[in-house]
This record gives sequence, C-alpha cells and structure tokens, in this order.
Amino acid sequence: MKQKPKLIWFTGLSGSGKSTLANGTEVQLHEKGFKTFLLDGDNVRAGLNKDLGFSEEDRIENIRRIGEVSKLMLDAGLIVISAFISPFRHDRKLIEQLVGKDNFLEIFVDCPLEICEQRDVKGLYKKARQGIIQNFTGINSPYEKPLSPFLRVQTDQMELDKAIQLIIKKVQPELKKY
Ligand code: PPS
Repeated sequence: MKQKPKLIWFTGLSGSGKSTLANGTEVQLHEKGFKTFLLDGDNVRAGLNKDLGFSEEDRIENIRRIGEVSKLMLDAGLIVISAFISPFRHDRKLIEQLVGKDNFLEIFVDCPLEICEQRDVKGLYKKARQGIIQNFTGINSPYEKPLSPFLRVQTDQMELDKAIQLIIKKVQPELKKY
C-alpha cells in the first residue's frame, strides 16, 4: 500500500492511557496494511535514552532525541506512533517544526489527574505523594495541555476500544496516498 509517512504523537499524563491507545492504533493500522513503528518508554528509555531521568532538562533531551529518531523513520517512509508524556508544549512544537506541521498528528490523551491517580497502574502516584519519587508529572512536575491538538480523546469518558476506533477514523484519511 502507498502511504504518507506521518508522526502520530500521543501525549498525556502517566496512566492516561497513551500506551494502550498507541498499541491499539498500531495493531489496527498494521492490519490495514500500513507500515508502522511504535516508539514508547519501554523501547526508548530502556535503550537509546537510558542515560536520562525525569528532570526538566532530561525530559527535554528525551523528547528531542525521540523527535530526531522519528524523523529518520519518517524519511524511511514509516508511520511512526509515539507515546510519551512529553509534558512541555515548547518541545512538542519543536517536534512539529522538525517533521513538518502536516506530518505531525498530535493526539491529546486527556484524563483528569484524579482519575490517573486512582488508577495508579504502576503505583508511581502513591510513591510520588510519599515523596519517594521526585518530579512526578502532575504532582510536582508540570504537564502543559495541548491547546489545539489534531485530536483530543477523553479516556475517562470513553471505552478504550471506542477511543481507538475514533483515532483510526480521524487518522486513516491522513495516511493514504491517492
Ligand atoms: S517524558 O516526560 O515524556 O520524558 O516521560 P516518558 O519518557 O513518557 O516516561 C514516562 C514514564 O516513566 C515513568 N516515570 C515517570 N513519569 C513521570 N514522572 C516521573 N518522575 C517518572 N518516573 C518514572 C512512568 O511510568 C511513565 O509511564 P507512563 O506510560 O506515562 O505511565
């Protein structure tokens, strides 16, 4: 299939559902014949960025490197799906500029902090509240919401399957070369 390389950029708080949505989106696109690559904390922070932590400086560098890697993958013709908190608006803007505005599809995975904290899938919010983890996004490190994302998905108000269908419906027309 002929495809237009795009960067589908999921941003949101820890526990908002970014990885689940990004994974689900990748599975669906793959089934439809698109060539994709998923970048997330599991494959990036464990390898390429394992020297980086969660200070503001390190997060900026984390996102910068991910942007550069994404660009290389776009040059190779892939649809790149990334799932990182990417808390700073300025850094997301830099990625948009790096890959080109038309190639950057920002998806805001919107979920209130209280709900993410209740979910606390990895127990990290509890540790952050106890002061065991420093600089935790939403607790003692900022998250700057996108002002005009390509798509906003409210994961506290929608089943994940429905959210994935919504994403596919919105994204798919952007990926096809006619
Ligand atoms: S960032 O801000 O974009 O550089 O973060 P990211 O690379 O997406 O990594 C977020 C995951 O790391 C875990 N973790 C933390 N998150 C936020 N703040 C602090 N201090 C922190 N320490 C560890 C956390 O599990 C995030 O995973 P997700 O999938 O977002 O829940």
